[in-house]
Amino acid sequence: MTTQVVGVAGGGLMGSGIAQVAATAGMSVRLFEHDAAQRPRAVAGITRSLDRFVAKGTLAPEARDAALERLMLATSLDALHDCDLVIEAIVEDLAPKQALWRALESICRDDCVFATNTSSLSVVEQAAGLQHPERMLGLHFFNPVPMMALVEVVRSVRTSARALEVATTFVGAVGKTAVVARDESGFIVNLLLVPYLLDAVRALERGVATIADLDAAMHLGAGHPMGPLTLLDFVGLDTVVRIADIMFDQYRETRYAPPPLLRRMVSAGYTGRKSGQGFYDWRGDEPVPMELGL
Ligand code: CAA
Ligand code: NAD
Repeated sequence: MTTQVVGVAGGGLMGSGIAQVAATAGMSVRLFEHDAAQRPRAVAGITRSLDRFVAKGTLAPEARDAALERLMLATSLDALHDCDLVIEAIVEDLAPKQALWRALESICRDDCVFATNTSSLSVVEQAAGLQHPERMLGLHFFNPVPMMALVEVVRSVRTSARALEVATTFVGAVGKTAVVARDESGFIVNLLLVPYLLDAVRALERGVATIADLDAAMHLGAGHPMGPLTLLDFVGLDTVVRIADIMFDQYRETRYAPPPLLRRMVSAGYTGRKSGQGFYDWRGDEPVPMELGL
């Protein structure tokens, strides 16, 4: 049940982190990213992160080099044909994920386990149309993947015991802690965290405090490692709007409805650190709160 060869589809914030921890754990990794311009950025992000561990003395330089050696940048999904496990971390949208799984089902071995890193989409809906839906489950990593210990293992009503065993063994092998969650939107953490993040934007809209003060208050007053607006910039404002829309559609509770300001910022291209601007301008040495004309 041990995973030796891992495929990762999607080389963005999460896919690159997942590829990094699997390669660091000694697995061969095939990272497929469909946007050619993103591929070098994925490798650069992985290298930067590995270098931070080397600088801290928690990773030997040789181990960093070996991890990079085990990481293959795939330019076609066909390169994932020999994977024991494939994890997708592409855009948070059901149709592209379903299309990706259907494509992979004709490429990968029948015993290859399929895992989605989705934040809020149904696992069983992603498996719809597959010959073997029992092979699929969720492996929900947290951002930044190299630093966050939790992985939510999401089993659908169709997930097989074998898939669960392969997935939980993999989570241990990459040094993370698995918590099994039900296939319900938001699973455990996001069910609680997303309304908190949206409430921070609503507080900003109402003029409760400035961007910097809202973050300082939760960092200093509640001991959070980073404030909610900084965390939104980390996660990606576009990703949070997609997650919130999916959860609102599922639960029809206003606490999951994205605030108008958040949508407007995504429409303006302010998607957070990954675009350089979100609630903060990340393009300089230090993040600077944005003037949003509130
Ligand atoms: N790779 C390697 N090392 C990293 C790193 C990375 N990506 N990020 C941080 N580090 C290291 C730093 O080098 C630093 O090491 P030293 O202190 O030994 O020098 C250490 O981690 C602390 O980093 P920072 O000093 O930059 O800042 P920090 O103390 O705040 O830690 C953090 C960074 C771990 C990200 C911390 O801020 C944190 O835990 N933030 C909360 C993140 C969070 O809530 N994630 C969940 C988001 S929700 C989600 O992911 C689910 C979803 O579906 C949206
Ligand atoms: P991202 O935008 O940083 O990366 C997504 C990547 O997938 C992009 O590089 C994009 O080019 C690529 N992509 C899109 N369609 C593709 C396809 N058909 N084939 C191959 N690559 C494709 O997004 P992200 O933040 O890494 O999120 C990815 C997934 O992980 C989403 O489902 C998200 O909900 C989930 N997630 C995100 C976080 C977070 O904090 N950002 C945390 C946990 C889970």
